[in-house]
Amino acid sequence: MGTAVNTDYLPEKKYEALAAQQYNLVTAEHSCKMAPLQPEQGKFNFTGCDEIRDFALTKVKGAFRGHNLCWWQNYPAWVQSLTPMEKRQALINHINEVGKHYGSDAFAWDVVNEAISDDSNETMRRSVWYPDVKDYIDVAFTTARKAFPAEVKLFYNEYVYQQTSKQLHRLKAERMYDLVRGMMDRKVPIDGVGLQMHIFYDFDDAVWLKAFMERFDALGLEVHFTELDVSFKEGPDGKTPGKIVPFDAQRQARIYADLMKVCLEVNACKNFETWGFTDKYTWMGTNARPLPFDSDYQPKAAVGAMLKVLTNGQDLQETTVV
Ligand code: G3I
Repeated sequence: MGTAVNTDYLPEKKYEALAAQQYNLVTAEHSCKMAPLQPEQGKFNFTGCDEIRDFALTKVKGAFRGHNLCWWQNYPAWVQSLTPMEKRQALINHINEVGKHYGSDAFAWDVVNEAISDDSNETMRRSVWYPDVKDYIDVAFTTARKAFPAEVKLFYNEYVYQQTSKQLHRLKAERMYDLVRGMMDRKVPIDGVGLQMHIFYDFDDAVWLKAFMERFDALGLEVHFTELDVSFKEGPDGKTPGKIVPFDAQRQARIYADLMKVCLEVNACKNFETWGFTDKYTWMGTNARPLPFDSDYQPKAAVGAMLKVLTNGQDLQETTVV
């Protein structure tokens, strides 16, 4: 049961204490990405990522999950001016250095994040990596397999596939499955798929999602919920992007509980992680109220609903808060 943690907020005692008390798995919201890790070519700054690793392993006494080695965002500016061959080498060097520094500190890494296009006319997202390094996904995973100890699990992480009423989601779900299947056919090393799960108040596709996850299970892969949040605002392809809608604690609790049930029912699901834990600090904005704890660090209905699922339907006392 995990959360993303941000070094910007760790100095706040309540933030740090609640994360340490309630979770046993931590991912850096920002600090382990390529831009903060390698701000200048060949010059690494592991400070922020180390801080999250140490928090996860020593304060939380839990697991550390690595996010991410290669993304179309948050790469350092210097990558842009490289030739395609230099980009390929820079990607390899980055992964090798991160592997050397972290070894098996993280039990899993998102090796590539969001490689699939949101454009219905093309499959691969155009980015600093593609098409310059056409096979960058294979390069990244193959390099990671050698750079990290064998027990570290390698993940492909993606968003926007989970809402069956939306054509783009249906398309991306199939593209994602095909991408991963193709990697396995080519014997590219991959251990699992990260489902980000940035979802909205009207989510009602848990049954479909379960079947989708079972398809990866059938391939012998793990599935992780990596960035779950349930926002009370219109989705990115809703009619009024970003418009806040009235908060409904029970509806949100049901969605969190349904997803918890799905994760427990699917053999491949090994990770249930939200993208932050308090509405005070969320990339969606506090007013979207997407996370299990409110902006005063009090548990919302979602917390009790998830605990109920985890304890086979028994009602629990309200969870202790700091
Ligand atoms: O740490 C500095 C801080 O010192 C400075 O005062 C502040 C001024 O702007 O910037 C801070 O860095 C910000 C960082 O988050 C830490 O809070 C960066 O500007 C900001 O760009 C960065 O945004 C993160 C974004 O990814 C890009 O890395 C968001 O927090 C994070 O929620 C978001 O997470 C992504 C996942 O990695 C992938 N899936 C989608 C998700 C949402 O975009």
